[in-house]
Amino acid sequence: MTSAGGNGRQETPPAERPIGVFDSGIGGLTVMHSLMERLPRESLIYFGDTARVPYGPKSRDTVTRFSIENVRLLTGYGVKAVVVACNTATARALPVLRQEFNLPIVGVVGPGARAAVARTTTGRIGVIGTYGTIESGAYRDHLLALNPDLEVVSRPCPLFVPLAEEGWTDHPVARQVAEEYLAPFRVDGIDTLILGCTHYPLLAGVIAEAVGPQVTLIDSAEETAREVASLLSDRGLAAGAGEPAHRFLVSDLPELFLRVGQRFLQGRIGGVEVVAAGSG
Ligand code: DGL
Repeated sequence: MTSAGGNGRQETPPAERPIGVFDSGIGGLTVMHSLMERLPRESLIYFGDTARVPYGPKSRDTVTRFSIENVRLLTGYGVKAVVVACNTATARALPVLRQEFNLPIVGVVGPGARAAVARTTTGRIGVIGTYGTIESGAYRDHLLALNPDLEVVSRPCPLFVPLAEEGWTDHPVARQVAEEYLAPFRVDGIDTLILGCTHYPLLAGVIAEAVGPQVTLIDSAEETAREVASLLSDRGLAAGAGEPAHRFLVSDLPELFLRVGQRFLQGRIGGVEVVAAGSG
């Protein structure tokens, strides 16, 4: 299955090759959406590692191994760059991926931190993410490197991932879970909340209700797409005028991914191909 992409690779000029995007499951589609909007000429190949989701509770070593396998799989399709559309994989594995692979690799944590710093007025920023992302301290480190005077409060919200994968994004259960996880932020008095997991923007409605209207939610997807756009133009890798073609790959049953994903990409998923996780 990877050879199909590999065969065309030799003849295709670098700028006309697709961009690879991966996440543990459906969450990276929020980044995919921003990439499609900002870079309408680029062909994208999305891989959702649905056989091994969630990444959040897994160890650094495991997430790093999965991430290396995912990038290897995408390079088999001749991608010119990779977007790690997963905060957990970015927080755990981005430096290793950049060492291992000789192509531009963009993560979502740096862009999310920059967007939050640009938005906050009080300097009190909340961060929510998976256990892995929060435990890594990646957001705190990026935020404090941008401004050491910030106050950063971080909390894991692991149940948001299965709720998003299930499509229960506007459901009483999602509302109850959000209230349970997020009520403490009302006491902290933050004015900005980083949705530090690419699944969470799918639950933005219930999250916003729980934290209140005075808190701005930061979704790193748009800022990430902006970073990809400038990287492609700096390196002369921006695609020309042709029609883009997108592909969607998953490592386990495609039905739920297709059903839930279509809602978020407004029906732009033409089909979903199943590939073996770790087959790169
Ligand atoms: N969407 C992912 C993230 O941004 C991971 C969710 C998970 O697999 O636990 O962290």
